[in-house]
Amino acid sequence: HDLLPYNTFGLRARAARFFELTDINQILELITQVDFSSETTLFLGGGSNILFMEDYDGLVVHMVNKGIQEVERSNGKVVLEAQAGEIWHDFVIKTISMGLSGLENLSLIPGTVGAAPVQNIGAYGIEVKDFIRYVNCFDLLTHEFVQLSKAECAFAYRDSVFKQAGKNRYVIVSVAFELNTQFTPYLQYGDLAKYVAAECGEREPNAKDVSNAVCKIRQSKLPDPKEVGNVGSFYKNPIIPATKLRELEEKFENVPYYLQEEGKVKIAAGWLIDQCGLKGKQIGGAAVHEKQALVIINKNQATAADVRGLSNFICADVWMKFGVSLETEPLWLP
Ligand code: EPU
Repeated sequence: HDLLPYNTFGLRARAARFFELTDINQILELITQVDFSSETTLFLGGGSNILFMEDYDGLVVHMVNKGIQEVERSNGKVVLEAQAGEIWHDFVIKTISMGLSGLENLSLIPGTVGAAPVQNIGAYGIEVKDFIRYVNCFDLLTHEFVQLSKAECAFAYRDSVFKQAGKNRYVIVSVAFELNTQFTPYLQYGDLAKYVAAECGEREPNAKDVSNAVCKIRQSKLPDPKEVGNVGSFYKNPIIPATKLRELEEKFENVPYYLQEEGKVKIAAGWLIDQCGLKGKQIGGAAVHEKQALVIINKNQATAADVRGLSNFICADVWMKFGVSLETEPLWLP
C-alpha cells in the first residue's frame, strides 16, 4: 500500500499492510485478526510528524474515526470529546463557531485530534495539554478501553506517555477537551498581540480574531504541506541550563530564549540554525526553509537519505558553533 499520500513530507514508502479505521469498534475486530504483541503496527493520523525512512514492514492503521460530542457543561466550561480522526484545524474552527475558546492559538497546526496529545502540540504560548481533561484509549496490552487522566498522560514539552512508557500500547480513540465559554486572550507570545490588533483594530478581540492572526503568522513563515512537503518544526527547541545560556550570551548577541523551571531555559533551535547561515542549505532534494530555519522542506523529490544527510549536517554545524545538541521532533521510522 502506497504511503506517499499519508505523510506530509512526501517520502516515497509502502506499507506491507494497511487498514482504514472509520469506527473505533473496528478495533475489536482487528484484535481477533492481528496479534499486536508481534505485529509491528503504526496508528497513523495526518502523517504530519513522521518520516518514513524505508518501506514499513508491518501494519499501518489509518485513524479516520470522526465525531464531536458535548459531554459536560458547567461553570463556564464545556467538555467536548472529539474522535481521533477529526482534522485538528477543522476541530479548532468548529469549537470557535460553537462559542468556545482555548484552542485558538493552536489554529492551523497540521494533523489530527488523536495525534495532538502524543507530542503535546503547542504554539504561541499554549500547549494542547492546557485544555485536555482526559484521553480515551484502547489498551493493546489488556484489550480494554481505558481512560487516561491528564496526569496519567504525563505531558511535557513536545512529549507525553504516548511517546514514552505507553508507546505501542495505547491507541488514542478520542480526546476530551475542557473549553471556556468566556474568552480570555493569551497574546504574550512574540508578535501575536500586534497581529491580533491588526485583525480587530479598536474592537475587543474574540477567539476568531486570534485564530485569524495565528493563521496569518503561520502562513507567513511555515510552508503549507499541501504545496511543499514538510513536518513543521524539525527540531525541538533545546532546553539548556541557564549557565550555558550565559556562556552563549558572552559570545553571541540577542540569543532568543524562554525561561523554564529549575534554572533552565529553552532556546530557539531556528535561531541557532539560522546563525549557522543554513537557510536554503540543500542536500539532494531536501532543504532548509528560507523563511524559517527550523523547518526542512521537500524541495525536489527528497529521499530519506537526503533528509538524514541534511539533518546530520545541521546538527553537526550547530554543535560546532554553539556546543548545543539538537533533538529532532518528528518520528523517524524505523
Ligand atoms: N528565529 C530566527 N531564525 C529562524 C527562525 C527563528 O532567528 O530562521 C528566531 C525568531 O526570530 C524568534 C525565535 O527564533 O526570536 C523563535 O522563533 P519562532 O517564534 O518562529 O518559533 P520557534 O521557536 O521557531 C516554536 C514551535 C512552533 C510554533 C512556534 C510558535 C517548537 C519546536 N516549535 O517555533 O511549532 O509554531 O514556536 O509558537 O517548539 C511545530 O512544532 O511543528 C511548530 C511549528
